[in-house]
Amino acid sequence: IETETKCETLLVAQEGGVAVITLNRPDAMNALNAKLLSELNTVLDKCDADPEIGCVVLTGGEKAFAAGADIKEMKDKSFADAFNTDFIAPYDAIASHKKPLIAAVSGFALGGGMELAMICDMIIAADSAQFGQPEIQLGIMPGAGGTQRLTRAVGKAKAMDLCLTGRRIDAEEAERSGLVARVVPQTALMEETMKIASKIASFSQPAVAMIKKSINTSMATPLPEGIRQERHLFYSTFATEDQKEGMAAFTEKRKPDFKDR
Ligand code: CAA
Repeated sequence: IETETKCETLLVAQEGGVAVITLNRPDAMNALNAKLLSELNTVLDKCDADPEIGCVVLTGGEKAFAAGADIKEMKDKSFADAFNTDFIAPYDAIASHKKPLIAAVSGFALGGGMELAMICDMIIAADSAQFGQPEIQLGIMPGAGGTQRLTRAVGKAKAMDLCLTGRRIDAEEAERSGLVARVVPQTALMEETMKIASKIASFSQPAVAMIKKSINTSMATPLPEGIRQERHLFYSTFATEDQKEGMAAFTEKRKPDFKDR
């Protein structure tokens, strides 16, 4: 991944089975422009296609994960430009990727930056992180899932509060509200996130992909249908070598060696 990927707006590295993608527009607080979203989708496509990669970490800088969609790129768009180019569509493409994606957030995650973090499968926040949907202050509304994923993550009361006032919440409030999985000290953000990502990468890739798919399905289906799909996926794990290996390792009291790709 690392050597074959040259990006203008991202840094890409690989540590064992984990790909690390760093948003790299520090002069613009990692504002998300069309180039960055396109490059991010290209790198995520490569991660999905690479059997050696078991988990992907998406991070930004210390001061900003991402301060939103690029306002300078957006400000002169007409309705026709916005509608015809459907410039938010790349966010949907990011969400459709297969490998688990962990957001490691330090500093500002605002607007499209917070929406990008919510597209990820899990958010690990540094204690310095600040989340917000400030679009209302620009005379617009969140457009990349902010009113939808946020409401599912934290409920109507907080979603209304954040989207209607534009106020920011800190990492502690974000964890309390159910937006982030864990809060860690700023200095330990990457170390802790890499531990989580390496652990996920060590598990059965089909089982990991099925869990991701099944949990994401729960956001979009009524409970009986979600339960039906989960059971179908669960039964299909019995078709994998990794299920045999995992259960044999348990009974033989040894560490499993998962190989399915
Ligand atoms: N788009 C474009 N440029 C941005 C940006 C953005 N979203 N956020 C920051 N920048 C740029 C600034 O313009 C500035 O550039 P210059 O040096 O050329 O002036 C540079 O990054 C540094 O920013 P600041 O000087 O403002 O830094 P600060 O520390 O004083 O403030 C901040 C940091 C609070 C994050 C502030 O920059 C800010 O409020 N940014 C905008 C946040 C925002 O409104 N995001 C929502 C965007 S709309 C959206 O995302 C729509 C959607 O749903 C998809």
